[in-house]
Amino acid sequence: MSVDEPVGLEPWNAAWPVPSAAELDGLRAYLRAVPVERDEFAQASGRPPQYLIDLLARARRFEVFERVTQVVRPALVPELQLRQSADVVAAWRAAEECEGAQQPAPFWAYVWAGGQALARWVLDHPEQVRGKRVLDFACGSGVSTVACARAGATALTAVDIDPFAVVATRVNGALEGAALDVQQRDLIGTDEGWELVLVGDVFYEPKTSERVVAWATALSARGALVLVGDPRRKYLPTRGLEELARYTLPVDPEWEGVSERTPCVWRLRPTASGRMPGRTSDAGLRRKAAHRQPA
Ligand SMILES: C[S@@+](CC[C@H](N)C(=O)[O-])C[C@H]1O[C@@H](n2cnc3c(N)ncnc32)[C@H](O)[C@@H]1O
Repeated sequence: MSVDEPVGLEPWNAAWPVPSAAELDGLRAYLRAVPVERDEFAQASGRPPQYLIDLLARARRFEVFERVTQVVRPALVPELQLRQSADVVAAWRAAEECEGAQQPAPFWAYVWAGGQALARWVLDHPEQVRGKRVLDFACGSGVSTVACARAGATALTAVDIDPFAVVATRVNGALEGAALDVQQRDLIGTDEGWELVLVGDVFYEPKTSERVVAWATALSARGALVLVGDPRRKYLPTRGLEELARYTLPVDPEWEGVSERTPCVWRLRPTASGRMPGRTSDAGLRRKAAHRQPA
């Protein structure tokens, strides 16, 4: 199928929305950049119009992603090329204008220290990835997904709840020549038999952190290798992490508020606890409360 003619939109189903010429141009540009989508697109005829609506939305997000980011070589993995924004506000504003609604922070527009650490480790230990069923959870820009593709993962899935991250990871995969399976899903709590699960830079928010620790610990207990890449964000679990590697890299103060981070790659042990730093156990709170009793 050629993306230069509106094939794939044919035979035209009158029930489908008719894209404008500009939308079709955007769609073609997107399909040129992300070859994996062509296969999906080729099967689109006869599918419900929602498919086309979703595809056009992806093409709009692609236009934003291309506009607000530039190709960089991340400090820890200079052998990879990924798109990244130097301006968090511009990226955020563009995403909100695109969606016509408030959006979460544009984490997809930056290659985070935790993801870079995982990517570095994966590229240095391809034997841990080659031939494996791999999940990159919360892929963001897709830096660790791309590293896994290069290292030879057999069945590689990346997920993120942010639809911009889906586009970002697909586009960054295409820069590497990889056609990636990237899904917009919250699959915390599920188990699809992954042998290796990457968790890059997600412990910045208490609720998600607690869910991720419980889920990832269960995956580890049934034998999956769960690797956490993190520069000690506030809600990184305090127990059950075995350090495998430590790196130091410059980061963008515009995004991080500091100019350097030292992320580690940890193996999550089956015994990891969901206890968060700064959060006292119930027993500890009871003891503290007892000490504060008036005499
Ligand atoms: C700081 S970014 C890290 C991205 C990438 N792993 C990296 O290190 O560059 C955190 C990502 O987690 C994603 N996220 C948060 N909660 C999630 C969930 N329940 N399921 C999937 N992704 C989630 C966000 O959308 C965001 O892209």
